[in-house]
Amino acid sequence: MRKLFFSAICLALFSCASYKDEPSLNLNVEWKFITGDDPSFALPGYLDSAWKSMPVDRIWESAGFDPYDGYAWYRLRIVIPSELKEKALLKDSLRIYLGKINNFDQTFLNGQLIGINGENAIPAMASDTNFIHAPTNFWDKPRPYTLAVNDPRIRWDEENVIAVRVFDQGGQGGMHSGGQFIAMTKLTEYLTLDNQKTPFIFVDRGLSKTVLLQNHSNAYTIEGKFHISALDKLSGKEIFYLMRTIELKPGQKEEFSFNLEQLDQSALISYVFDVKGSGQELKVTDESPYITTPQAPEEPRINGAVVTAVRPGKPFLFTIPATGIRPMTFEAQGLPAGLILDARTGIITGRVMEKGQYNVTLKAVNAKGSTTRDLKIEIGDRICLTPPMGWNSWNCWGLAVDEQKVIASAKTYRDKGLMNHGWTYINIDDGWEIHQDSMPKRDPSGNILTNYKFPDMKRLGDSIHALGLKFGIYSSPGPLTCGGYTASYQHEKQDAGSFAAWGVDYLKYDWCSYGNIAKDTTLPEYKKPYFVMRDALLSVDRDIVYSLCQYGMGKVWQWGDEVGGNLWRTTGDITDTWESLKSIGFSQVENQPYARPGNWNDPDMLIVGWVGWGPSLHPTRLSPDEQYTHISLWSLLSSPLLIGCDLERLDAFTLNLLTNDEVIAVNQDLLGVQARQVTVDGDIQVWVKPLADGGQAFGVFNLGDKTANYVVDAEKAGLKPGGELRDLWRQKSLGTAGNDIRMAIPSHGVMLYKVK
Ligand code: GAL
Repeated sequence: MRKLFFSAICLALFSCASYKDEPSLNLNVEWKFITGDDPSFALPGYLDSAWKSMPVDRIWESAGFDPYDGYAWYRLRIVIPSELKEKALLKDSLRIYLGKINNFDQTFLNGQLIGINGENAIPAMASDTNFIHAPTNFWDKPRPYTLAVNDPRIRWDEENVIAVRVFDQGGQGGMHSGGQFIAMTKLTEYLTLDNQKTPFIFVDRGLSKTVLLQNHSNAYTIEGKFHISALDKLSGKEIFYLMRTIELKPGQKEEFSFNLEQLDQSALISYVFDVKGSGQELKVTDESPYITTPQAPEEPRINGAVVTAVRPGKPFLFTIPATGIRPMTFEAQGLPAGLILDARTGIITGRVMEKGQYNVTLKAVNAKGSTTRDLKIEIGDRICLTPPMGWNSWNCWGLAVDEQKVIASAKTYRDKGLMNHGWTYINIDDGWEIHQDSMPKRDPSGNILTNYKFPDMKRLGDSIHALGLKFGIYSSPGPLTCGGYTASYQHEKQDAGSFAAWGVDYLKYDWCSYGNIAKDTTLPEYKKPYFVMRDALLSVDRDIVYSLCQYGMGKVWQWGDEVGGNLWRTTGDITDTWESLKSIGFSQVENQPYARPGNWNDPDMLIVGWVGWGPSLHPTRLSPDEQYTHISLWSLLSSPLLIGCDLERLDAFTLNLLTNDEVIAVNQDLLGVQARQVTVDGDIQVWVKPLADGGQAFGVFNLGDKTANYVVDAEKAGLKPGGELRDLWRQKSLGTAGNDIRMAIPSHGVMLYKVK
């Protein structure tokens, strides 16, 4: 009976007029805002006229509340007209869409809870005061709250009060994404097209792809025409088209596979489901991957940094990164006393007591030939003379990291050959320590305890070192980490001792709950905890690279070196969207002079490959060109390169991004100068990085939404005239550069060159 009833509705609906532009109410306006917390702020009668006006399209730090962490409330009074339902195709539910909220929210309509952290509130949640117990990356989650049209919490044609209680755990805060609205739900909202679950696969010379269409409604049948088209991204020429008539019953799914020829650029793909009789369509766009990095030759080639440093008497570990077929043997001439090379693995270990600079000649030999390369070993006070290259667990596993996942990553470094390109660190982020809700947190002597997922840190450190890799860990100067785990406050020396005993080579030290300890937001308070851990790290019998994480507060680049930092985060957390990549990457301007060997600006970890910040992962939401932009820009910026994806799921495209030795060489260059933004010309930006061999690397980025044909004026960009021009991604020489360097740059993409 019920089914028939709904089908009847559908028929009636489909014969109606077009519902293409159903009315909606814009909520991306100035709201009322106050910091602090009081349950009466939710009540419709509360008088908020004295509160500040606040935009909801930017974090509150960018709207006059920098820094502020903790509770705050937003309120908006708005009439919800019944015109919304009268003019809508579907008349069953109303959607209040609040965009993304940093970090957590409880949302009230006319004094009653309607949603928590993106989930519609059910009555049992009404008394939930624990809404802040969610993964920290909830700031990146959209908040759509849906109410039945006859829900008594909605006051049709009268004033309604939406009140949003926000808790910001640290760093950026508030309603921030813009695009907030109220509208009736649409038929197309029941329809999803998943083009992420099965990414493009390279097969022979082509690409294959499967997408999944699904009707999530349990009432409506959705009928229509499904079109897939692909255009060559640079020329706009159509290279593929397919159309199918489809009927999806309630709950039904259907898969579509198609093949494309491989191009030397992306194809622009659109999937459109045109819902019959409604004028409404679901449109999803996609871009296909393309590989530029040539295969490394079979002959030996030594890659990566040409310098490494260690303090006198501290353990030394360096693995010669070399591509070429195996077996391969290694030699090293001129090693200082105290170091030995394992000729079979290329791992150099030992301790050197004397300060000094040692010029070593490395040699790699295989069945196809041999090669040599210089390596400078510096024994002195400085370490970390090139940006660290490694993997960190956060952007993939978040708090779901465990020992097996870390070991698997380390093994993949070897098995997929990443080590041969200089990838070195295997770093555990938050989530290895005892949780705040568990007891005891420390042993009777006060040594920090790990949780059950990390049963033996020393064993883990040893197995990472045995592979010739380095081991990194994470803590906070506060009592708790950002994820709510035990941190180092008042145990700094002891924790540094534990880290050293486990063989830790790298510490990321994240501000988090220290916000509640710091007396104020002055520089001395910002610096204080970092000095304490610096001294603790310097007192142990290992070099530990010191990575400061406090999101750039107090312009950390100006004093990060003073507190002993080797690198420092310059912004809030990155996520796998173009907006995030663009706003973080292209804002690394002011900090440029502060990067140098031993001190690096850190615009956060890489977001290529399968990421997810928790147990379930998805392929990055960046397009292939955005990913080329990401790796090119981070290389030019001399940024730490920390892979944030599941290495076991590394696909051919991601591997191509991470193993281009000419691109990596730009990042690892001996001079250690960060690229300068030399041109901003509309959507085009040119960034130039001087190199130790007298050459210059430069990237021409197209931040716009269309292909750009651009001419770089070499003189204006400060590029030396008459040099040899090389396309670094394709590793191809392009002849002598004239003053006008012409190129076509795909939207959100880059051309990365070296001129010498
Ligand atoms: C954030 C930090 C992230 C990650 C996370 C762990 O503050 O910026 O990179 O470390 O904490 O909880």
